[in-house]
Amino acid sequence: MTLDTTRDNRRRTHFAGHDAIWLFGYGSLIWKADFPYRERRPAYIHGWVRRFWQGSHDHRGTPEAPGRVVTLVHKPGATCHGMAYRIAPEVLEPLDVREKNGYLREVVRLHFDEGDGHSAEGLVYLAGADNAAFLGDAPLDAIAEQIATAHGPSGANRDYLLHLATALKDLGVEDEHVFALAARLHEGER
Ligand code: SIN
Repeated sequence: MTLDTTRDNRRRTHFAGHDAIWLFGYGSLIWKADFPYRERRPAYIHGWVRRFWQGSHDHRGTPEAPGRVVTLVHKPGATCHGMAYRIAPEVLEPLDVREKNGYLREVVRLHFDEGDGHSAEGLVYLAGADNAAFLGDAPLDAIAEQIATAHGPSGANRDYLLHLATALKDLGVEDEHVFALAARLHEGER
C-alpha cells in the first residue's frame, strides 16, 4: 500500500447520500477538532484499543525520523473511548488529507456515553498493520524515547501525546498505555 491513502479513502463511499455522518475520533481528532461539526458527543467503540503503533512522517515526524501517533488495534472485549462528531459529508475531504499517512475510513458502531445505550454507525480513521507507515509494538521506553525526540510539520511529537493524555483525563477516560507513555515523557524531562 502507498503512503498516501487519500485516493483510497475517496473510493470508500460508505454513507454516500447521507446528509450527515458520525465520525469517531480517538487520537488527535479528540483534541484538535479544527473542522466544522454539527454536534459532538463523548462515545466509545468495542473491540479496539488505542496504541502508539503508527508512524508519522507528515505531522509529528519526518520520513527519515518518523514520530509515533495512535491507531486502533483489535482486542476482543476491550473498549476505546473517544469523541464522536456529527459532520457533513464534505468534511471528510480535508480529513482524508489530514489522515493520509496510512489511515483508511472504516465503518464502526459507536456508542454514546450519554443517551441510554444509544448507538449509531459511523466512520473511524484506522491505520491497519498492513499500511506502509505502521511501526507496531515496541517496549514502552523505546516508544516514549521516539516520541520525546520526533518533530514534524505539525510540531513536536511529545505535544501530540501530552494533548491526548490531557484530553482523555478531561473526558474521565483511563488509558493505561497513553498515561504510561506520558509519565515516561515527564520522567525523562526531569
Ligand atoms: C483519530 O484521532 O481518530 C485518528 C488518529 C489521529 O489523527 O491522531
